[in-house]
Amino acid sequence: MESKSAIYAPVPALPNVQEMVRNDPFQVPEKYIRNETDLINDAVLSPHLSSEVPTIDLSLLLKGHEEELDKLDQACKEWGFFQVVNHGVATEVTKGLKDAAEKFFELPLEEKDRIAIPPNDIQGYGHTQVDHKVLDWSDKLVLLVYPHQYRKLDVWPPTPFKEAIETYSSEVRRVAEDLLRSLSVIMGMKKSALLELHQELVQPLSVAYYPQCSMPDKVLGLSAHSDKGSLAIVMQQEDDVMGLQIKHDGQWVPVKPPHNAFVVNVGDIVEIWSNGRYKSIEHRVVTNESKARISYSTFFLPHQNAEIEPLDQMVFQSLGSLPLYKKVTYGEYLRETKRMKSEGKTHVIEVAMLES
Ligand code: OGA
Ligand code: NI
Repeated sequence: MESKSAIYAPVPALPNVQEMVRNDPFQVPEKYIRNETDLINDAVLSPHLSSEVPTIDLSLLLKGHEEELDKLDQACKEWGFFQVVNHGVATEVTKGLKDAAEKFFELPLEEKDRIAIPPNDIQGYGHTQVDHKVLDWSDKLVLLVYPHQYRKLDVWPPTPFKEAIETYSSEVRRVAEDLLRSLSVIMGMKKSALLELHQELVQPLSVAYYPQCSMPDKVLGLSAHSDKGSLAIVMQQEDDVMGLQIKHDGQWVPVKPPHNAFVVNVGDIVEIWSNGRYKSIEHRVVTNESKARISYSTFFLPHQNAEIEPLDQMVFQSLGSLPLYKKVTYGEYLRETKRMKSEGKTHVIEVAMLES
């Protein structure tokens, strides 16, 4: 048996990318450079599809609006990604977080390193990537915000960033809970069903700083991956700095969220629960030659002991009425996917899929 901590395995410290760029904006070490097959032959870029990413109005979902629930079903089925508007999170809250984060990243490295990820941990500021051979062009502040008992306050940033994280996280949790209630309804269950299946709604926050990069065609801010939880909610600093791309019908589609919208995506666990009706889509972040980008990703995950398997009514609905994924605890799922260390979305298929 692996120890509990192996699920969130610690990683060695990597260079601070923002500092590298500060010292020499034109230097790009070899270990960040991708080969052509990785980037170009992978899939074509289709910017014209950006405007087709579905938009969901949360205020309509809350009223049980049938058409909006249908839109949510289609969005999760066809795209695995959507933008949420009328989410009810006040601009002061989002702006409060953005202002505080921007100031934090401007600090000298020594100041930021006061909350550096301690050895053998995953929470804090730094760069914690080991799964991919080629490194990502970013630094992150990662904190487990909920449940409260997981918080490591030693690595929380100082006031007012700390308070801004607290306020934003509680608001975005409400948005996720509302979305999970609507998803329960479109999956034919009582509203509270998916929240109950989580046992506990675990909520990490990742604030990512993607510095500008002199070789944007060869360097990624974040490698292609799918998210391993149930849902992820992403907010970005400025509307005009694009970076996030999602894979849709074999093409990379840049996401340009409308002002004041969140980008939401379905994670692997919702794909399993829905027996593949809803797709956990591969996505990545590209770098920008002239501007840095800051994003705020909140992930929603079940408790480690929660058993994850396709839901009966979703199996009955699917072709052949057969489950496509085996039953796993969430902890096992994380351990297995970590072991695969493979890029992209292969893990759902290889780890959870039943052999046919
Ligand atoms: C992630 C992610 C997107 C972004 O952290 O899993 O997909 O825009 N982030 O930073
Ligand atoms: Ni992601």
